Amino acid sequence: MASNKKLLVLPGDGIGPEVMREVRRVIDWMDRRRAVTFDLEEALVGGAAMDAQGVPITEETVAKAKSADAVLFGSVGGPKWDTLGFDKRPEIAILTLRRELGLFANLRPATVLDPLVDASTLKPDVVRGLDIMIVRESTGGIYFGEPRGIETLPDGSKRGVNTEVYTTAEIERVARVGFELARKRQNRLCSVEKANVMESGLLWRQTVAALGQREFPDVELSHMYADNCAMQLVRNPRQFDVIVTTNLFGDLLSDLASMLTGSLGMLPSATLGGLGADGRRHALYEPIHGSAPDIAGKGIANPMAQILSFAMLLRFSFDMNEDAALIERACTKVLASGLRTADIMQTGMARVSTQVMGEAVTRELDKIAA
Ligand code: IPM
Ligand code: MN
Repeated sequence: MASNKKLLVLPGDGIGPEVMREVRRVIDWMDRRRAVTFDLEEALVGGAAMDAQGVPITEETVAKAKSADAVLFGSVGGPKWDTLGFDKRPEIAILTLRRELGLFANLRPATVLDPLVDASTLKPDVVRGLDIMIVRESTGGIYFGEPRGIETLPDGSKRGVNTEVYTTAEIERVARVGFELARKRQNRLCSVEKANVMESGLLWRQTVAALGQREFPDVELSHMYADNCAMQLVRNPRQFDVIVTTNLFGDLLSDLASMLTGSLGMLPSATLGGLGADGRRHALYEPIHGSAPDIAGKGIANPMAQILSFAMLLRFSFDMNEDAALIERACTKVLASGLRTADIMQTGMARVSTQVMGEAVTRELDKIAA
């Protein structure tokens, strides 16, 4: 029997709308070919919402996100809105959604697909087969900690303040996500902070260690300082399986890890909330790349990260592992066939547009499912 899944689609700014168009192709394909249909609703976020509605995200859109089964997010931001105050910046849209939906666990994979092993700036031997999952805490830490602000001192100079805060409950719930993911993978979790200089980091380390002993004694747990982790990620990235870390360190380390793959345009992400009383879990899926204003509107952006974000949505929100794998396989096949968008172009390959790449994915889906 067909089941209806309610999706809220938020394309946002820059290349968001054009890569989202290609995901719609894949969703239409699913509607036609698989035992599932999606009810899609679309809304403005980021600079697009700022221009049309005067805020980066309306309360109505937040309410829609809360009632949807999952949110598919594009990207927000651009030079046009860079000079606006903090409360009006496009980035507020994603931060508001994370906070309002309680999306505390940001899952950021860094995987090197075989056809793209040469796209990395690192030697193929270092990154071949790379498969890391970074779990970044995403509703706490210095992004949301109080006090914060810029104050004027008596002498007229200013003081900017942000605060890194973590409670045991916040650490435990995100660490649990890390442990559970590790169990489904290579069973190794590395917890990352700076316990050598920060009290919140020390609490983080102690809390994760205690949780590991108590609930996940079977998972191989290690601890690492964030600066060392950055170095190790470049030196020998395959030593990692799952990494769990704070909001700010996760922001930095996931950008770093993504470039090990050489292709920011390929990487999806998921941000998950806790299980609600009704058994539902809020979740948002978005590519790791930003709005890329420099190439927006040119039809050359890589739609793969957005398409793979939809695959993650199927896997994590609906347990549709087979369908997710189908999409992932189709993407790998398109790459193996030699098609490349500009961001992952290699000599001897065929450079194609956003749309041609999207169409190629549905064509591969047709072949695989035939
Ligand atoms: C990310 C982005 C966001 C962040 C910005 C857009 C607020 O860099 O998702 O990594 O810093 O979390
Ligand atoms: Mn970031």
